[in-house]
Amino acid sequence: MEEAPKSRPLRLGILLSGRGSNFFAIAESIRTGHLPGVEIAIVVSNVADAGGLKAAQELKLPTALFISQGRKRAEHDADVIASLREHNVDLVCLAGYMRLLSPEFIAAFPNRILNIHPALLPAFPGLDVQQQALDYGVKVSGCTVHFVDEQTDHGVIVVQRAVPVLDSDDAHSLAERILVEEHIAYTEAIARVASGEYEIRGRRFVKRVS
Ligand code: GRF
Repeated sequence: MEEAPKSRPLRLGILLSGRGSNFFAIAESIRTGHLPGVEIAIVVSNVADAGGLKAAQELKLPTALFISQGRKRAEHDADVIASLREHNVDLVCLAGYMRLLSPEFIAAFPNRILNIHPALLPAFPGLDVQQQALDYGVKVSGCTVHFVDEQTDHGVIVVQRAVPVLDSDDAHSLAERILVEEHIAYTEAIARVASGEYEIRGRRFVKRVS
């Protein structure tokens, strides 16, 4: 990704559909000075009663609601892209955004869309992943922050954090412990991308050596 001009902060566009705990963790990292040079430009929801949308409004952040239900993907995405552009967004962060992006959306922000997934990719892509992990019997799961490409849960990995699977776990308890790590991982990933000091070699996100 091109580095944002030093004269202004890296502007995030956060997309969510639900409770928005990852959004809130990012907002807290910014508020507490853990993401210097980063600001939230806009929070976009595709669901009217998303808790994350309400939380963003309470924080007095710019928000937008584009209800996706019943709309063609490309049409809905065109509205979202226009809003992100209008707010000069540099980096899009999917934070529990429960809608696949159109190829046009991905092309509009090449390697500038991050997603968080509650498993160690490439294991367990898709939905109900904590149950998938339990059913498979893995002893370690975790979370992955990755760039979004045309394939679901597939793009270049920026950060992963591991979480042990306990004998006593059910999908709920495992999800709760993974979520704690998600909140750390997302901030770490944004910081790495914001630094601009990286390069992508094949599928590998690596620190640039100057
Ligand atoms: C998280 O588990 C995230 O990994 C997944 O959706 C969930 C969103 O949680 N993509 P929240 O809305 O950020 O609390």
